[in-house]
Amino acid sequence: MATDSLTITDNRTGQTYEVPISDGTVRAMDLRQIKVDEDEFGMMAYDPAFTNTASCRSSVTYIDGAAGILEHRGYSIEQLCEKSTFLEVAYLLIFGELPTAPQLDRWMFDITHHTFVHEDLKHLFEGFRYDAHPMGMLLAGVGALSTFYPDAKQIGDPEERYMAAVRLIAKVPTLAAFSYRHNMGLPYVYPDNELNYAENFLSMVFKKTEDRHIPKEALTKALDVLFILHADHEQNCSTNAVRGVGSSDVDPYSAVAAGVAALYGPLHGGANEAVLRMLRRIESPENIPEFLERVKQRDEKLMGFGHRVYKNYDPRARIIQQYIEPVFEATEYSPLVEIARELEKRALDDEYFTERKLYPNVDFYSGIIYEAMGIPTDMFTVIFAIPRTAGWVAQWMEMQEDPEKKIARPRQIYTGERELEYVPIEQREGPEKIVGPPARRPKRPRRGA
Ligand code: CMC
Repeated sequence: MATDSLTITDNRTGQTYEVPISDGTVRAMDLRQIKVDEDEFGMMAYDPAFTNTASCRSSVTYIDGAAGILEHRGYSIEQLCEKSTFLEVAYLLIFGELPTAPQLDRWMFDITHHTFVHEDLKHLFEGFRYDAHPMGMLLAGVGALSTFYPDAKQIGDPEERYMAAVRLIAKVPTLAAFSYRHNMGLPYVYPDNELNYAENFLSMVFKKTEDRHIPKEALTKALDVLFILHADHEQNCSTNAVRGVGSSDVDPYSAVAAGVAALYGPLHGGANEAVLRMLRRIESPENIPEFLERVKQRDEKLMGFGHRVYKNYDPRARIIQQYIEPVFEATEYSPLVEIARELEKRALDDEYFTERKLYPNVDFYSGIIYEAMGIPTDMFTVIFAIPRTAGWVAQWMEMQEDPEKKIARPRQIYTGERELEYVPIEQREGPEKIVGPPARRPKRPRRGA
């Protein structure tokens, strides 16, 4: 008998099956042979939320959640944050190796020269309500990119894939900044090719009447590191969305738009926004014990804590902490830092959180830094989407090369009725209650209407 195998005995039939084990996994399809009757469908694995299912083979990002390790293409996140830049890390994620100097020059040149978006995209943004959430605008903008680059549908063409990678990484910051300017009622600022990636983004966000907006170095350094920290995180909710949607062979802009939508959720990219709101609600360090009590009663969630994969301190959270002081030296001190530090200390001293292995994640401190930079809370998730675009593209590219690629199509356990006889409407009986929306909330005022 092969040693790398799993022997399964079906106690319903007494039959034994041997299933191969490879890379510590069994193939769910190997379970299909397990059946009571020959004409039965066969056994499936049930795993809502994919908590114990590997959905692909990937060499992009390695995480050891128990040890708190994160590596991209084999390089530790600590080394990358200390020695690299976001654009170099984006190259590493997508092409699998650190670039040589000429490769990096070409990559940076290509990204820098594709930062402009078509003027019609600007008009699309002008059509949004004045208070549209910038993430909703980004979602629409990224989806709309597919209509400007229809050749990107040729996903088998390496040149088209390269151009889509360049355009996405180059244009997402522009769309992100435009969404902010729209919210603020300010004119859009065009990209400045003389600035680096982080500087250019901050310039498009904050430039007013000056000829050139050059942000403080402490801020651009911190932002570049935050970009590296958020660049990829293996099969998280949004990456899974990009892969799932991309598996239909749709163009990469549409697949990445799916990632943006997933990231919008408060349990994923929206968490740092939620952290800031939580810290503001706590108001002062003396309210922390009462707040933590409410978390334990499950009336609240401790946002910025806990992670599906990390059951230890999120290494990204540790790195971010080093940038808090330099950012606050270059800006204004925020009392929220004290609340965050005290909240972290108390939670880490509390059995409720340690027993559940709840530690700060990347989002616990990132929002505080963004706020210090003058970025409004609504923009936090949008800023997360900028670097994560590199990860989505890398994972999308990898999927295209995967010989096992197939359209994603999970199974289900059907729990409903079967083979009912259709009842004409006049003969139907049922509860009096009419299903409809809950009591109407007052409408928000509309501009100019
Ligand atoms: N506050 C309070 N209790 C929590 C929290 C939290 N933030 N997170 C998990 N728990 C409890 C949960 O109630 C459960 O307790 P019990 O076993 O008594 O029922 C236990 O911890 C295990 O939690 P879980 O729900 O099984 O964990 P999960 O892996 O399904 O959820 C998570 C992971 C990130 C969705 C969750 O921890 C959470 O909602 N955290 C707050 C939101 C947040 O900060 N998200 C950012 C994640 S990092 C950025 C990214 O990668 O997107």
